[in-house]
Amino acid sequence: MDTPGKKRVLSGIQPSGELCISNYIGALKNWISLQDEYECVYLIVDLHSLTVDQVPAELRQRCYSYVAQYLACGIDPEKSLIVVQSHVPEHTELTWVLNTITYMGELNRMTQFKDKSKKQKNINLGLYTYPVLMASDILLYQADLVPVGADQKQHLELSRDLAIRFNGKYSPTFTIPEPFIPKQGARIMSLQDPESKMSKSDKNPNNYISLLDAPNVIMKKFKRAVTDSETEIKYDENRKGLHNLINIYSAYTGKTSDQIEDMYVGKMYSDFKVDLADIVIDALKPIQEEYNKIYNDKGYLDQLLKEGAEKARYQARKTLDKVYRKVGFIKRAR
Ligand code: TRP
Repeated sequence: MDTPGKKRVLSGIQPSGELCISNYIGALKNWISLQDEYECVYLIVDLHSLTVDQVPAELRQRCYSYVAQYLACGIDPEKSLIVVQSHVPEHTELTWVLNTITYMGELNRMTQFKDKSKKQKNINLGLYTYPVLMASDILLYQADLVPVGADQKQHLELSRDLAIRFNGKYSPTFTIPEPFIPKQGARIMSLQDPESKMSKSDKNPNNYISLLDAPNVIMKKFKRAVTDSETEIKYDENRKGLHNLINIYSAYTGKTSDQIEDMYVGKMYSDFKVDLADIVIDALKPIQEEYNKIYNDKGYLDQLLKEGAEKARYQARKTLDKVYRKVGFIKRAR
């Protein structure tokens, strides 16, 4: 951390559900490509995941699994910090201070809160202040750039507002983070319901491809993916199912939609789906092999997380000490 001249990137994923190809295409793939140019911090936001019901033993295993998948996908611990959010207590400490400068009206406006309150029974206070914890994640590390999907832009906007507000009320303390929306940004949609996004917390596993799905499962899911009653393979926004499959094809091969259309002139949906499944199976194979090597080595993963947390805490403490001083707390003798 703290390489002069390098901008800092920070992002995170909630450990709920299984990581899917939409997380890879929308986040991880992009994270990997940023590692050389930026100083990156990649979080597993376990504190956030408590805002929905969790089975404790499963949550713990899932967090390990996410770390192993970050690594297997190509996050390099020599270049980037992989950090479990709860290992750095400064996240919750800064959240408290930020809570006191956040207006309830701002949180009432958050569309994710409104959506989730409609969908889940357990409307807890954590769900409400979720965006403040996210702001702490970002501001603690003085992140310059935050790669996020479109659904998180409103939360990022709040992080910026809070940083500006705090800096104005006291004095410059936080870097104002910028959203970093990947260029090739096709949203990956659900396989059975292409109107909604592919989500790792979806109850129906046929809606998503997990990074750890076995080849026969991947084949089956793609074969069953919803398309339409037309015959030609065309990249048409109104044919949502096929449109989505072409986007996945394109993300994994680098081919444009035009090239893909040309390749499938006169061919059937089933040909296309089988090819797509094979492409994804091949792409996931090395990731799964690497995952299987590291997932069971808890000693290695624990050591890696220990180092990640130590380095992260150094930066986090620096920011938090500054914040505590500015708000008027007595400096704790050490
Ligand atoms: N809220 C984000 C999501 O659901 C996850 C997240 C938590 C995050 N903290 C973050 C993303 C900080 C970027 C930066 O996708």
